[in-house]
This record gives sequence, structure tokens and C-alpha cells, in this order.
Amino acid sequence: MRYDGHTRTCGLIGNPVEHTMSPLIQNFMAEQTGKNMVYVPFHVQQGMLEHAVKGAFALNLLGCNVTVPYKSDVLEYLVDIDPLAKRIGAVNTLVRVENGYKGYNTDMPGLYRAMCHDGVDITGKEVVILGAGGVARAVAVMLLDKGAGGVILFNRTAEKAQQIADEVNGYAGAEFARAYALAEYEQVLTEKKYIVIQATSVGMHPDVENVIIRDEAFYDKVEVGYDLIFNPSNTKFMQLTTAHGGKAYNGAKMLVYQGVIAFELWNDIRISRETAEGCIRQMEEAMK
Ligand code: ATR
Repeated sequence: MRYDGHTRTCGLIGNPVEHTMSPLIQNFMAEQTGKNMVYVPFHVQQGMLEHAVKGAFALNLLGCNVTVPYKSDVLEYLVDIDPLAKRIGAVNTLVRVENGYKGYNTDMPGLYRAMCHDGVDITGKEVVILGAGGVARAVAVMLLDKGAGGVILFNRTAEKAQQIADEVNGYAGAEFARAYALAEYEQVLTEKKYIVIQATSVGMHPDVENVIIRDEAFYDKVEVGYDLIFNPSNTKFMQLTTAHGGKAYNGAKMLVYQGVIAFELWNDIRISRETAEGCIRQMEEAMK
């Protein structure tokens, strides 16, 4: 790619940002689509977020991604927030508008697109979520938004799962989500098989032998196991899922698709499945 006086800049705001895959994915898409755009990491120190957002606007940046620890903090510096992002309470994409940035959450639409890509259909199904942190909460909101039949949340701390269930049920105006302690799955799950989304950090590199549920009998109930972790690429949770006949996926595609959707928002363009697959290959190559 040749950069010139017309090149538009996008970047990643976070702390730290040094291990990000986003420049690889974004610059690959710019190259594939011929968009004159460059994407770079911006390490924003604590206390500098407001300056960073205002500075980005002043420097005519087309957009930014936002990562840890700023996904919620950034909300107050935006001129507009997409309704889904508002519900999730976290923004990972800023899109330039007339007088500032509008915030979106593309993580969850990214997970949904990844599931569609993998042929996993959640419509009308009761989906199991393991965990009750910020990510699990966002997944529950997304599942409601995208037409799942219901959600069963399991978490070490049952109260946190209950809080999410209450909130999502408030949005649904019905009992869409149920919450339990992790240990209760045996009593709660029926004979059928489930789509299970692993939304805790358990099993993440370097703790690769760890898994949220060790009991092998649990995995007989897993039709599809979606681990939102992408490093390692085959987590213990995924290994147990496949060993018991289920299909297992990691969080790499979600990561790629959140970037795809951000690129689409910035450039008003639709990224093809082929280009998305190219991004996935780029990422897999970089992680070897
Ligand atoms: P995030 O925002 O990435 O979701 P988080 O809010 O810190 O991160 O949530 C982490 C999730 O992983 C929580 O559901 C947490 O369980 P608790 O709510 O009981 O803390 C879960 N988690 C983390 N380490 C765990 C462990 N060793 N065993 C069981 N659950 C764990």
C-alpha cells in the first residue's frame, strides 16, 4: 500500500496495545479493498483518554477501536452511542461523525457473524453461557437481540449471573435468562444438547490446562462449544467438547469479525466472506 496525502488513519486506543492483531487485520482489509487507509496502535496512558479522543478528532482520524481498559470509560467522551452498545455498556469502535465520535460495539455482532460463518444457528434455542463478567453479559444481550430462545447462565458467583439475568429479562419483558451457580448444571440441564459459550478467562494462555468445568459428563451435553478465548487456539474446553463428539470453535473468528464490522462502518463497504477468511488466515499465520 502506498500512503499519500489522502490516506485516512484509524487506530487502536488501549493500554497496553503491543500484542494486538488489529493492525494486521485492518491493514489487510484496506489492501484487499483498495481503501487508502492505515491502522496503527495508540498506547494511551491512564488519565489521557479524553485527550486521546479529542486529539483523534482534531487529527481527523476516521475512526478508532477501543480496547482494555477503556471500553466503558470512553462512553462519556462520545457524541452518540449505538443502542446495542448502550445496552451492552461497552464500546469498542468509534466512528467519526460531524462533531465527534459515535460509539458502537462490534464485539457481539462479531461473535454473531462468526457463528453464522460457522453455521451455528441460535434462533429459538436455549443457549448456555459460562461466566458472568462483562463479556458474558454482552453475550446474553446479543443472544436476546439476535433471537435466541433463552439463556442459561452458570457462574462461580451465582449472584453475578443473577444480576445479568435480571437485567436481560428486563429488556426482554419476559423470563429469557435463568442464572445458576456453576455446580448446579447437572440439575439444570436436560437430556438435550446445547450450544455453550465459554465466556470466562479460564484456560487462557499461559494457564492452558485449566478449564471452567472439569467433569467430563458435562461435555456429553455440548453440541457446539464456543470458547471466546483465542490463545491457545485449541483450549482445554474445546478439547473436551470435541472428545465428547461436539463441535468446538475458538474466539479468533469473533476477533476477526469485530474488526470486519468496524472496517465496514468506517468505510461504508461490505467485506466479503473471502476477505474475512483471508483475515483469519493472516491471524493464524501470525500466531504460529
Ligand atoms: P470479562 O470482562 O472479560 O468478562 P470479568 O468481568 O473479570 O472479565 O469476568 C471473568 C469471568 O470469569 C467471571 O464470570 C468469573 O467468575 P466470578 O464472577 O465468580 O469471579 C470467571 N472466572 C475467572 N476465573 C475463574 C475461575 N478460576 N473459576 C471460575 N470462574 C472464573
